[in-house]
Amino acid sequence: MPNRITTFAEYLDEYRKSIDTPEQFWADKAEAFVWHQHWDKVLEWNFAEPSVQWFINGKLNITENCLDRHLLSKSTQPAILWEPNNPDEAVRTLTYAELHEKVCQFANALKNNGAKKGDRICIYMPMVPELAIAVLACARIGAIHSVVFGGFSFKSLSDRIQDAECSIVLTADGAFRGAKDIPLKSVVDEALETCPSVKKVIVLSRTNVKITMVEGRDIWWHDAILNVSAECPATIMDSEDMLFILYTSGSTGKPKGVVHTIGGYMVYVDYSFRNVFQYNDGEVYWCTADIGWITGHSYLIYGPLLAGATTVMFEGIPTYPDAGRFWNIIDKQQVNIFYTAPTAIRSLEAFGLEFVKPYSLNSLRVLGSVGEPINKEAWEWYHVNIGKENCPIVDTWWQTETGGILISPLAGITKTKPSYATLPLPGIRPVIVNEAGKILEGNNVEGRLCIEFPFPSIIRTTYGDHERCRSNYFDIYPNLYFTGDGCKRDEDGYYRITGRVDDVIKVSGHLLGTAEIESAINEHPDIVESAVVGYPHDIKGWGIYAFVVCNTHRPDTNALKQEIIDTVAKYIGHIAKPDKIQIVSGLPKTRSGKIMRRILRKIAENDMANLGDTSTLLDPAVVEEIKAGAIH
Ligand code: WTA
Repeated sequence: MPNRITTFAEYLDEYRKSIDTPEQFWADKAEAFVWHQHWDKVLEWNFAEPSVQWFINGKLNITENCLDRHLLSKSTQPAILWEPNNPDEAVRTLTYAELHEKVCQFANALKNNGAKKGDRICIYMPMVPELAIAVLACARIGAIHSVVFGGFSFKSLSDRIQDAECSIVLTADGAFRGAKDIPLKSVVDEALETCPSVKKVIVLSRTNVKITMVEGRDIWWHDAILNVSAECPATIMDSEDMLFILYTSGSTGKPKGVVHTIGGYMVYVDYSFRNVFQYNDGEVYWCTADIGWITGHSYLIYGPLLAGATTVMFEGIPTYPDAGRFWNIIDKQQVNIFYTAPTAIRSLEAFGLEFVKPYSLNSLRVLGSVGEPINKEAWEWYHVNIGKENCPIVDTWWQTETGGILISPLAGITKTKPSYATLPLPGIRPVIVNEAGKILEGNNVEGRLCIEFPFPSIIRTTYGDHERCRSNYFDIYPNLYFTGDGCKRDEDGYYRITGRVDDVIKVSGHLLGTAEIESAINEHPDIVESAVVGYPHDIKGWGIYAFVVCNTHRPDTNALKQEIIDTVAKYIGHIAKPDKIQIVSGLPKTRSGKIMRRILRKIAENDMANLGDTSTLLDPAVVEEIKAGAIH
């Protein structure tokens, strides 16, 4: 492995090289991997189309770099340390040799069930080692994985399966989450009623709930691997072949299938993992994210395994059996690097220090945060009570679309500042623009965050709809990738992300489009119209506030609200349930019929003094009614 950055002076030097000679810079990093054929050209790009290609004509398989490459020196080192939901159940350890064997065996099972290079395979599984095995087995044979978070409902699942035209679904009978059993297989069954592309479903036995198996379509995981060989040569892929699709919410209703390709993604997640967390050989690293989100893809599976690290995988939730579970696991597994989300930190903070006190936490060396801005209070709590004022906190800013961390301190190297993601990684060129797209030079500026040059793990397309990728990210400001985030660069040149500037909200770290929630609410037969906005929430970061217009008078408002919540849970999943629902007689609209969300946002935030000019509305009186009935 190439050396990583060890001092701030080296960071500045690397950064300079990455800007002056980006192709040479990334080629040097890429040389460390196993390629079956060297690339002809490092980079070709054009943001107008957009078209970005890295390591052109390079041939490889990412799983050889995650697994086979480490077998000589690390075959007996744990690759995955798995912690079950129930602390009484045994921990599972998979060494690099064991993980390699299981991935190869399941890869053969996939082939036996008809999977081929280029096929899309949907993975809807609990956080058990077989989920990591499933992901890597797809990559082994060149199938494109599309992992769907286990908390999504049948409708979200079927939308995603249909969009990618998946031929196989990998699932389990159920999932354990805290005290609950989630019935995954029955959700799959309901979803598949509208998914004719799916020919096979492979079902892992996890919770032992009774399920139905469809003859000819469904097969148990343990049967699929019975007597199957654990030798599976990796399928040789092109650097720009698709590695995976991961759906993310956008400002329109339909989720976008973000596509990442193999070579560039591999090089960037490895580089960012080793440098941001300053991973040392032999350390235990734990990222608490679910593999259903990008953080789980890049920094639970691919990044750590590429770097030959030991990665902890946790099946459960932070509050089960009590709010000390994270700290318990850290002591038990002697975790050195811990990476979690601000919403988890805030919720554990609210449970009080008695859940932290029983644990020494003295194995910890580095703490990380991801998913939303970490507010000062949570930062301090994390720093003092978890890091014992001894561990640098890396506040890592990035997105599903960027594949890897773009702006972050390097642990122990970059001076941190609470609530700042600080400085760009080498290779990353952030710019801040005003609404008109003018680049704001110098320090002490605030505007919208864009990136002006491609990095290896940038989004390549949105699956099946390239135009959507262009118009969403590359067309708003010409020749720039637009992140959708507001951002400030302070007097030290440090970056601080201020939140989304589009109609998406981050609720407990999950990105949700307001339009997506509105269309779920509108499925309720008594609702004519709705508008959803976010409001600041102490624990979740943002809460969901829904204004709804009914077509009948329902005196039982509590029952109606519950039905609306259930409808959203049914169409999207529990993560999107509104926190507040206000029944209104109409919504504030412009004369052209556009809902004025700005006004609703202010009302939801209880900032009535700053509603702005409402006189141009179609019906200004409705604002008074909404203000009077606002829920705070
Ligand atoms: C937000 C998660 C502030 C941001 C990896 C971004 C953050 C969106 C941070 C992407 C951070 C993520 N500070 N905001 N450290 N990290 N965000 O696609 O709004 O789930 O655009 O990827 O999360 O969310 P996504």
